[in-house]
Amino acid sequence: MTTPLCSAAPVTFTPARLTALAQGFGTPLWVYDADTIRSHIAALRAFDRIRFAQKACSNVHILRLMREQGVKVDAVSRGEILRALAAGFQGGFDAAEIVFTADLLDRETLATVVQHQVAVNAGSIDMLDQLGEASPGHAVWLRINPGFGHGHSNKTNTGGEHSKHGIWHTDLGAALATVRRHGLKLVGLHMHIGSGVDYGHLSEVCGAMVGLVRQAHAAGHDVHAISAGGGLSIPYRAGEPVIDTAHYFGLWDAARQEAAAVLGHALQLEIEPGRYLVAESGGLLTEVRATKQAGANHFTLVDAGFSELMRPAMYGSYHAMSLLPLDGTNGANGNPRPVRPTVVAGPLCESGDVFTQGEGGVVLQRDLPEARVADLLLIHDTGAYGASMSSNYNSRPLAAEVLLDGATERLIRHRQTVEALLALEDL
Ligand code: LLP
Repeated sequence: MTTPLCSAAPVTFTPARLTALAQGFGTPLWVYDADTIRSHIAALRAFDRIRFAQKACSNVHILRLMREQGVKVDAVSRGEILRALAAGFQGGFDAAEIVFTADLLDRETLATVVQHQVAVNAGSIDMLDQLGEASPGHAVWLRINPGFGHGHSNKTNTGGEHSKHGIWHTDLGAALATVRRHGLKLVGLHMHIGSGVDYGHLSEVCGAMVGLVRQAHAAGHDVHAISAGGGLSIPYRAGEPVIDTAHYFGLWDAARQEAAAVLGHALQLEIEPGRYLVAESGGLLTEVRATKQAGANHFTLVDAGFSELMRPAMYGSYHAMSLLPLDGTNGANGNPRPVRPTVVAGPLCESGDVFTQGEGGVVLQRDLPEARVADLLLIHDTGAYGASMSSNYNSRPLAAEVLLDGATERLIRHRQTVEALLALEDL
């Protein structure tokens, strides 16, 4: 089978290989391509530090790949800190390797950041107080909400007064005073205004960051680094723009230089992407198990649901799809299957368990080659916020994950079993 897959799928994702993976590991199955991740890292090398927002894809083997590439890591929970440690971060006693970003510190996480001396990126003054009492001298960043934000959905906009994230910009002075009172060590200022950001506003963001550095300097604080946060998008639909990382860096570099001039010394510039580094490296492989007609709508039912990929149900997100017919009849020179508009839906007992939907849950039909039972379907660009947002809803075990590196492949997470789920309930 030589059918090319739609969109910019990794070159390792050939129909023959994906079919063999489905046969070997079963479906639903997450598949990642290591070279795609490496090439996205390479496109951001101009930044002094790349910090992977692991919430996008927190498998320890993906974290190890990041570490091998010199990428640092962001953690947002105790679990993510422990994952980063398991992947070898902080092993070289470089306290800059893991940064814990949050708006609160639960007691267990506070103990963990103190024990492992993980730098804390504080989104509230209460965090600074609690950390300062437990660990005077601890390294901190201040995450500032500049009063505006953007995202691909309201749910991923992390700036402005409707967002719970970050220290409100007018509280910077109070936050700095808290840092000083506890003798905390201020590393830098951080801003992440949303995921899937509209770059028309980037100069506004950079300007806000320079203003914050100015304010910190005027209050007698030194700043060693600034973080541009994450938010870089990827083209989920054919024809959507590919981000110009050189231009993106250029705007931030200019802001860094302006801030450095204020401080009178050099300043490190870091970036904290999640989606950009991993989204295009991943696909969700699922098997067609039923097809049917309901009035005007045709349905293709697959064995993955929003328990695996939550994004369409949660945000109305679009993911390209490729059908991999079992009999290879979709080949360009073969006997192509007719295209048929269809709703692609999963096995969950929820009407919203539909992969082809718009914002607000409107069910949409997608033009795909006509699917038959036992065909495979690849859902593209699911490397970010795919497996990491999966759940056990409907008592479905988490799916397995496989990492392809050139010709080699590795099972990087076993499929969970129902027995493992039940074991937690002390039968
Ligand atoms: N830094 C911070 C502090 C963040 O909160 C996030 C994402 C990132 C970095 C990385 O953002 P990225 O580069 O991936 O856009 N589940 C949603 C995305 C939620 C993002 C939450 N925070 C989705 O599937 O689109």
